[in-house]
Amino acid sequence: MSAPIRDPALWREWHPVALSSKLGTQPQQVKVLGENVVLFRTRDGVRAMRDLCIHRGVPLSLGRVENDRLLCAYHGWQYDGSGACVCIPALPAGQTIPPKARTPRFECVERIGFIWVCLGEPKEPEPPYAKYGEEGLIPLRMGPYPVNASAPRVVENFLDVSHLMFVHEGLLGDSAYSEINDYEMSETDGVIRSGEIAVYQPDPDGRGQGVTSIYVYEIFGPMAVRLVKRALGTDEKFHLFLFVLPESETACTAFMLQLRNYGADVPDEVFVEFQDRLLEQDKVIVEHQKPELLPLDLQAELHLKCDRVSIAYRRKLKELGVTFGTE
Ligand code: FES
Ligand SMILES: [Fe+2]
Repeated sequence: MSAPIRDPALWREWHPVALSSKLGTQPQQVKVLGENVVLFRTRDGVRAMRDLCIHRGVPLSLGRVENDRLLCAYHGWQYDGSGACVCIPALPAGQTIPPKARTPRFECVERIGFIWVCLGEPKEPEPPYAKYGEEGLIPLRMGPYPVNASAPRVVENFLDVSHLMFVHEGLLGDSAYSEINDYEMSETDGVIRSGEIAVYQPDPDGRGQGVTSIYVYEIFGPMAVRLVKRALGTDEKFHLFLFVLPESETACTAFMLQLRNYGADVPDEVFVEFQDRLLEQDKVIVEHQKPELLPLDLQAELHLKCDRVSIAYRRKLKELGVTFGTE
């Protein structure tokens, strides 16, 4: 098993690990910054701990949950939600459980339909951007989308406006309308925001209606960003959050939260299938980029004015000291 990477910034961030609706009664393994983590439900909420039984190194996620305890599949040791082993079936009655019999527990919260884990001491008691996920719009959660690319490359791809006309031609853009208007970046209360960017979109959400969209990108943290979009000439609002779970330096899992004020009667599958298709198009690009790790030295690649969101993102990662998935 590879050792977890103590990234100076990401260690204290909340990472999305699963859709709440997908964690049932079975324990589930996820990977956060190289650490295998097991998730399981108790009466007091979801618990997260190192997915490794201290007895013989078996992943606890192979076991099962009983009475709020996680039972190892090999010899049935029982771990409570604090990571302590509270029952060893092979021990004769009256003998005490060695204090070393435990596995490290991690902070875990459930917010806006996702389960979040922090390996270190969380910077904030919960993901601070979660409050933007409850604005009275229709929510749709998507993922997990595994991607064989570094998490920062995937986030940057989401923040890149001038690829829409090529990678997503016919859907999010049209190569005959590829010029990007000038815009500025600003920062308020720790959120980095782009100015408005107009994009002609032949079919921006799978309903087959062409519009000119006004894009604003927002960067909340190293792995949490949002697109706020409105369609010119309509009252339609569309927000799309991207949350990325950095698993290894070159692999990650993306989750999305879509919020919109229209299409209440459109089946979820229409939007999900559309997003799946876009993601497949992006994967072809991000899984082939070199170097695989995102270069934070702004001299390393060539930037245009229209890349200001990406530049701001790279600067932010550098300022925070993110090393995982960057170079
Ligand atoms: S390996 Fe887990 S109980 Fe023995
Ligand atoms: Fe894309």
